[in-house]
Amino acid sequence: MKEQNTKNKDFLSGPEILKEMNISWSGKMLEETADQYSKVSRVIPEVEWPFFAPYIKAINILKKDMNAVILAHNYQTPEIFHCISDIRGDSLQLAKEAGNVNADIILQCGVHFMAETSKLLNMDKTVLIPSMEAGCSLAESITGEDVRKIKEENPNIPVVTYVNTSAEVKAESDICCTSSNALDIVNSLESKEIIFLPDEYLAMNIAKETKKKIIMWKGRCEVHEEFTPEEIVEFRENEPGVKVIAHPECSPEVVAQSDFSGSTSAMINWVKDNQPKKVLMVTECSMSDNISVENPNVNFVRPCNLCPHMKTINLENILESLWNKKTEIKINPEIAIKAKQAIVKMIEL
Ligand code: 13P
Ligand code: SF4
Repeated sequence: MKEQNTKNKDFLSGPEILKEMNISWSGKMLEETADQYSKVSRVIPEVEWPFFAPYIKAINILKKDMNAVILAHNYQTPEIFHCISDIRGDSLQLAKEAGNVNADIILQCGVHFMAETSKLLNMDKTVLIPSMEAGCSLAESITGEDVRKIKEENPNIPVVTYVNTSAEVKAESDICCTSSNALDIVNSLESKEIIFLPDEYLAMNIAKETKKKIIMWKGRCEVHEEFTPEEIVEFRENEPGVKVIAHPECSPEVVAQSDFSGSTSAMINWVKDNQPKKVLMVTECSMSDNISVENPNVNFVRPCNLCPHMKTINLENILESLWNKKTEIKINPEIAIKAKQAIVKMIEL
């Protein structure tokens, strides 16, 4: 069906695809999507469902037809996270799962470096990202040339690179890490000194827990650097008994004010296991929305900050991406070989 209908057009928009697929909102669709709506009903008002449901139906049909798999990061909005994704998780889980995917197409609901990681582990597959605007301030803080200079200035010191980097930067590294394994990776290396790139705050948080000397770079996550220790103190005063959990991309001062710090999935598991009455998740906003569904007795206290890059992905551009097979991730094969080695080393450790 798809091949015939798109013969004369390079790119169909979301509404045009819905028309081609003969999908539109109807009362019957409310019944058909009842299971999916029940997962998000705490965060999506029923009046908004007629906008989401046709896209959800179309994406799920197309996904099967095209033998595609959708990977979604924990920061994706609830309708993406709960209603169309096949694999969900933090950066490490997504990277590990990407290596095991048995499909022709991987569609990444996350930012560009995550899609690149999937491509590095699946050079023979089509990897799609719905928005090329989905960058990351950490990935943009450093280039391959920067890493080559740092290595020249610090010879024979191993380079550990956060996965929030381009393939070119990974290719210059000895091993990658994510927020959930950074300390283990650093401690696994024999050298007493480690170059840790590019997140300065994550590096500082690791430096507090390892005996090794950490050489840092000045990259920051634009979302997590906004949180301040003063803000946390104020929340504790205004919300007595609130538990505070923070992502390690926050400053060490913010982490010091928290009851727990860990990767996005570690934060989710902490809430599931501890069932606090009130919790402040010091991270991106969608996390609280996504897990509120499974934790109805937990009260999620704001603030949170939005990641503008993650939020460029939506149901409409996901459908467009699948139908039009755009935009495909491409990586220079020479860079890919080296970058893949750094990721595989991390996964194997
Ligand atoms: P996680 O690996 O903890 O999911 O973090 C990724 C990220 O981009 C956080 O800002
Ligand atoms: Fe990058 Fe920060 Fe957005 Fe994560 S939250 S993708 S580190 S800008």
